[in-house]
Amino acid sequence: MHNARVTPPCLIRAALPSDEAAWRGLWRGYCEFYRIRLPDEVSNRTWQRILDPDSAVMCIVAEVEGQVLGFANCVVHENTWESQPVCYLEDLFVAPAARGHGAGRALVEWLHNAMRAEGWARVYWMTQTDNAQARRLYDQLATADGFVRYVLRPR
Ligand SMILES: CC(C)(COP(=O)(O)OP(=O)(O)OC[C@H]1O[C@@H](n2cnc3c(N)ncnc32)[C@H](O)[C@@H]1OP(=O)(O)O)[C@@H](O)C(=O)NCCC(=O)NCCS
Repeated sequence: MHNARVTPPCLIRAALPSDEAAWRGLWRGYCEFYRIRLPDEVSNRTWQRILDPDSAVMCIVAEVEGQVLGFANCVVHENTWESQPVCYLEDLFVAPAARGHGAGRALVEWLHNAMRAEGWARVYWMTQTDNAQARRLYDQLATADGFVRYVLRPR
């Protein structure tokens, strides 16, 4: 008997209200990955904005066999270098047990396709220089342009 394992298809779609529990579980994993503790009101507000069609925040999820295993949170915003809006991919996360099967790639590729449909001038994102796992994927999909992020916080 032929026993080869076939990777089940990964569906990428906009997040729905019914994804809340799955998104929150993945969001917790993402925050742990970055070792940050966000106040509940921030996470609640992020989820509300994801569902609000008038908000610039959007979220797509990766679903495999009915289970949401990854997400990408994005902010679509105006910018000064192009007349069309641009899409900032702010958060990307795939459940540890589901990694290496193409969900992360599929989420970024969905945004690449959406760019034309939505009229975005570009999709962009940043990552920590030492995030080797993410950069292995990103280096196959896009070009790092050498910009470095600086951050000011309230005094
Ligand atoms: C980065 C991340 C989203 C990638 O998700 P993923 O679903 O594992 O990505 P893919 O399966 O599409 O991987 C694509 C490539 O990345 C590499 N890769 C990433 N994670 C891997 C893993 N656990 N096992 C094997 N390869 C992996 C492979 O080189 C693969 O290339 P290939 O398809 O040519 O073999 C995921 O590792 C993750 O959530 N990491 C923690 C959070 C994070 O770093 N987010 C990004 C912050 S900017």
